[in-house]
Amino acid sequence: MLNTKKDFPVENVRRFLEPGPIVLVSSAYKNETNIMTMGWHMVMEFSPSLVGCLISSANYSFDLIRNSRQCVINLPTVDIATTVVKIGNCSGRDIDKFAEFGLSPKPGKQVRAPLIDECYANFECRLVDTNWIKKYNVFVFEVVEAHVATSPKTPKTIHYRGDGEFMISGAETRKYRKLFKPQML
Ligand SMILES: Cc1cc2nc3c(=O)[nH]c(=O)nc-3n(C[C@H](O)[C@H](O)[C@H](O)COP(=O)(O)O)c2cc1C
Repeated sequence: MLNTKKDFPVENVRRFLEPGPIVLVSSAYKNETNIMTMGWHMVMEFSPSLVGCLISSANYSFDLIRNSRQCVINLPTVDIATTVVKIGNCSGRDIDKFAEFGLSPKPGKQVRAPLIDECYANFECRLVDTNWIKKYNVFVFEVVEAHVATSPKTPKTIHYRGDGEFMISGAETRKYRKLFKPQML
């Protein structure tokens, strides 16, 4: 039996639903490059591999990504969590975040936006649907190329729970795997 429940402010349900992991979105347009921290993303389709991302129009990244129609979604791990939070608390309008945070930009295969070498994985993305940008600031990207580290097998990713609290990915289990239909895996 669960504990007694109480009314909870609906504007805070995100504290339970935000899936994470927190990612770093890198972008490039003309001579500018930038990075922002992002928690509000959602997988939308397997193939093509679609991901919806909420990028506030107040962010410098918004224009770089809308104009270039590209970005890279980079997956950081807990060892660079301090940098991840700092990147999300400043703007590329004022600083060069690659230089400021000592991160290494690496060329991608299909997009001009740089990969962040220090991250566990890098997903090169093309903007494929702009219909939700105006209403929701949601960009729908297709991942067109993915680069993933071979070890460790399971990265220690960081997940935002709002109000300055994070959860770090922990125990893994395959206990429920046999309950899945193969097409649901
Ligand atoms: C943990 C964390 C999660 C964030 N998630 C988002 C997000 O999902 N969408 C968004 O627009 N901004 C998000 N932000 C805020 C941006 O990262 C922040 O505004 C950033 O500094 C914008 O940089 P820019 O102006 O250089 O583009 C997040 C910040 C932090 C620290």
